[in-house]
Amino acid sequence: MREENGEPVLADANANDVFVEFERVQKSYDGENLVVKDLNLTMPKGEFLTMLGPSGSGKTTCLMMLAGFETATHGDIRLGGTSINNIPPHKRGIGMVFQNYALFPHMTIAENLSFPLEVRKMGKSEREQKVKNALDMVEMGAFGGRRPAQLSGGQQQRIALARALVFEPELVLMDEPLGALDKQLREKMQFEITNLAHNLGITTVYVTHDQTEALTMSDRVAVFDDGRIQQLDPPDTLYEQPKNSFVAQFIGENNTLEGVVKEINNGIALVQLDDGELIDCMPVHDSVIPGARTRVSIRPERVEYNKERLQEGVHTLKAEVMEFIYMGDIFRTRLNVAGNDEFIIKTRNAPDVERLKPGQQIEIGWLPEDCRALDA
Ligand SMILES: Nc1ncnc2c1ncn2[C@@H]1O[C@H](COP(=O)(O)OP(=O)(O)OP(=O)(O)O)[C@@H](O)[C@H]1O
Ligand SMILES: [Mg+2]
Repeated sequence: MREENGEPVLADANANDVFVEFERVQKSYDGENLVVKDLNLTMPKGEFLTMLGPSGSGKTTCLMMLAGFETATHGDIRLGGTSINNIPPHKRGIGMVFQNYALFPHMTIAENLSFPLEVRKMGKSEREQKVKNALDMVEMGAFGGRRPAQLSGGQQQRIALARALVFEPELVLMDEPLGALDKQLREKMQFEITNLAHNLGITTVYVTHDQTEALTMSDRVAVFDDGRIQQLDPPDTLYEQPKNSFVAQFIGENNTLEGVVKEINNGIALVQLDDGELIDCMPVHDSVIPGARTRVSIRPERVEYNKERLQEGVHTLKAEVMEFIYMGDIFRTRLNVAGNDEFIIKTRNAPDVERLKPGQQIEIGWLPEDCRALDA
């Protein structure tokens, strides 16, 4: 570990080197219940990683431990190879943005931004230059003289971002930073944040419980539930190859059917649904063995009802059309399939695609690789 004035400082990590590390981290607030159970996570420099999960799953707790406001009950958290317990907070180089961004109301915007630099004992002219750069970065250069109350919600959020970036941190933590904004502004800010982070090469840990936000912004997403990472993967892998029922259900729209595994042949599982019908799927979860109960997951856009397009030899299911919704670019149809009347299919609107009618009886099918047999 490198030292400066007798204090350990961050090592210079190269790109691709591990920068942020959680190793077997546990956290309990009351000495009894673990709210973070066994967290293992490594991030290279420059990565934009999102922690996504339901309320109470431990996301903020993980961020707080990384920031140093909470300490881990067990395990180790490292930054640039150095255990953060040994790094004083002002040397961690972490910028933070939270949902209630708490700009100081009695200070101007420029003073708000200057504050973290004063704390770091930076000289006046350098401070002014950095504040100007940070304001320009979020396109708020003309607003330095105003007070927070004189800005819109989106502008305040931009200032909060500038304040987190003003001291050029290597790592930025953001906890639901866009939660208070309307949809349109959110989408604009999502784009700005990811652009800034990538252009500046900042490593970012972003927390949200909005799955669309997670999928569109991130290099990788860690899906949290019950104090554990259920899956950690890039957005497309997460959506297309969920590893368990929780992730399949939590990310994107998903159809579920339940049954028993009859056999597994050549990597394809034959599953008998509870109403007796047979389907073909990919055995994904470890628990999928002959005789075991399973829950299968199939995305709405992977279901086919045009007989000519159904692959020969695969099993098909009878379905009754409950509802047909014309959405312009796609048709969204709700079916009753094997007793599940919330089965959704999505079809691209094209001249050759039949518009279904409620009450109509159809046959549906899919490629076995698009149907995933998961934990029951
Ligand atoms: N300071 C605290 N003292 C005691 N328990 C806490 C404290 N902070 C959080 N908890 C508990 O720890 C668990 C995880 O909380 P955490 O805030 O990390 O969840 P989260 O995933 O950020 O949820 P949300 O999406 O609602 O923000 C919850 O059960 C919560 O009640
Ligand atoms: Mg939280």
